[in-house]
Amino acid sequence: MAKDIDWSSLGFGYMPTDYRYNAEWKDGKWDKGGLTKDSTVTISESAGVLQYAQTCFEGLKAYSWQDGSIVCFRPDLNAKRLQDSARRLLMPEVPEEMFLDALDQTVKANKDFVPPYGTGATLYVRPFLFGSGPVLGVSPAPSFTFRLFVSPVGPYFKGGIKPLKICVSDYDRAAPKGTGHIKAGLNYAMSLYPGDVAHKNGYAENMYLDAATRTHVEETGGANFIFVTKDGRIITPKSDTILPSITRRSLVYVAEHYLGLKVEERVVPFEEVAEFEEIGLCGTAAVISPIGRIDWKGGSIQVPSGMDEMGPVLSKLRSTLTGIQEGTIEAPEGWIRKIC
Ligand code: PLP
Ligand code: COI
Repeated sequence: MAKDIDWSSLGFGYMPTDYRYNAEWKDGKWDKGGLTKDSTVTISESAGVLQYAQTCFEGLKAYSWQDGSIVCFRPDLNAKRLQDSARRLLMPEVPEEMFLDALDQTVKANKDFVPPYGTGATLYVRPFLFGSGPVLGVSPAPSFTFRLFVSPVGPYFKGGIKPLKICVSDYDRAAPKGTGHIKAGLNYAMSLYPGDVAHKNGYAENMYLDAATRTHVEETGGANFIFVTKDGRIITPKSDTILPSITRRSLVYVAEHYLGLKVEERVVPFEEVAEFEEIGLCGTAAVISPIGRIDWKGGSIQVPSGMDEMGPVLSKLRSTLTGIQEGTIEAPEGWIRKIC
């Protein structure tokens, strides 16, 4: 039976649930792994994650369908991206089958925490990998932990899907060259300060420009950009220093194959931003969140779609994507993993 939770008033925050998955890597191999009720982690004071931030994570969601089944959206891509992150941070890869088994076990064991269909809430899944063994010199940890927990969540941005006001950050994107495409915890820690500066100035998020030339649009602290031109084309930044968003990759397919829109993945000069008709952020947590205004040192861009509601093209993209995730629109082959 579903837990007695006020699903529609949930924000995006951590709520401990009954079970989480834990596995340990030592001497070149993963142990069997399994579920635990213990929401705490005990590690050495000298653990690689604590000393040198050797950690990375993933984010995906589980959805309740109208027929009562519980599904996840393209988790194989999260498994692969976690492997990319692990390789760059010199951590052992979690095999895809192990990742998917951890996901199935944890979501199934917490099925009463999956928000019911139609509430607007979802179950956020947070897999992560960290150096748990002790180090002192700068070196990879001798042992690692892979863990996966879940938490019911509502919208990532306060106010649901009201258009946001963001600003161009004076700081470079947090990720050092060669790590912008992975979900290293360090990159997020380094974005906290610029994020705080933006929030204190009344902005929901930062737009980061490319660190090398500060002329091209990269992404925000937790989502990719998606733009709509006046003639209805979709433009999304191409860069090897942004996270390859699974939501963005899915939206490109949805735009082309479900909505018949033209899509361009290419470098987006900041100067072009003032010409777009609609602007949105996309990601697992953000889904598609509209932008109404972008401020920068030299001025302010008022997005023509306005500050009141999401524009028509982004709305259509959002409803098609969420329809696929919630089972009311048929998904492309292999996009949906039925958990139970
Ligand atoms: N960019 C950053 C920096 C992120 O943290 C996220 C969230 O995971 C995204 C983009 C969106 O990626 P995805 O759609 O795979 O969730
Ligand atoms: C996600 O969308 O899953 C993320 O990891 C973004 C994070 C900022 C919550």
